[in-house]
Amino acid sequence: MGRGMSFPMIQFTKEKVVIVTGSNTELSEDGFERMFQVNYLSQFLLTAHLLPIMKTSGEDCRIVLVSSNAHKYASRFDVNSIHYKGDPEKFSSYQYYSKSKEHQVMQMFSMNHRLQGSNVAITSLHPGVVNTEFSRYIQERNCCWNCIGKCVWSGAFTRTPFEGAKTTIDAAVNPKWKGKGGIYFESCKEATPTAQSRNEEYQTALWRHTLELLKNHLPTDILQGLEGKNE
Ligand SMILES: NC(=O)c1ccc[n+]([C@@H]2O[C@H](COP(=O)([O-])OP(=O)(O)OC[C@H]3O[C@@H](n4cnc5c(N)ncnc54)[C@H](OP(=O)(O)O)[C@@H]3O)[C@@H](O)[C@H]2O)c1
Repeated sequence: MGRGMSFPMIQFTKEKVVIVTGSNTELSEDGFERMFQVNYLSQFLLTAHLLPIMKTSGEDCRIVLVSSNAHKYASRFDVNSIHYKGDPEKFSSYQYYSKSKEHQVMQMFSMNHRLQGSNVAITSLHPGVVNTEFSRYIQERNCCWNCIGKCVWSGAFTRTPFEGAKTTIDAAVNPKWKGKGGIYFESCKEATPTAQSRNEEYQTALWRHTLELLKNHLPTDILQGLEGKNE
């Protein structure tokens, strides 16, 4: 894929993988909605490439997808509308951010299903509203982004980066979570993501669409494993 498919920031903690963000209101040079590509598709691709290595790398391998409570603001799921092609005036970057974060949660459930009985567990989480450099990417100003921006810039109701990292670190290394996948965390505790993200029909539709988009970017054996043809 082109430069637009560059991986988001990746932090490796031993065999743990934590993957993060990006934002834009234009289609990527690959023709995909950019937040979908940067926040979801690229980390799916990376995870897919790493899975065979992880499966032979010790008894406690974990994939932690850093999602967001913003997934709760995603509008109705429709696999056909993932790649925006409409009026730029109507484009809401917060909506596409929310969707990309919802897709991460859905990936977590789908992949967890396929990792049952293996040494790899996948979880997802909301880190809290954290005072990072996150808001520098925000180009569009609407009430949702403004609210987040104000919180982050003022420091009100926000966590320090140290505090904000705790849920991710807990998910990645706490022995309590060994072998436990399919969990969405908030403040180091199990939480319930939206009903829409837990909808298995939607998860399957997203999974199939994702594999279709990535079929030319994954070796056949990995692709077949994800399609369930190696089972
Ligand atoms: N901060 C919050 O309140 C909050 C709340 C909920 C969820 N999250 C999630 O937490 C994760 C981490 O965000 P953060 O708050 O730590 O933000 P951050 O400090 O801005 O870090 C984001 C990182 O992603 C990298 N990045 C962004 N777009 C990229 C791209 N297209 N290609 C490669 N790297 C890219 C940035 O690299 P550069 O520095 O080189 O640009 C930066 O290192 C994200 O997934 C975000 O959605 C954050």
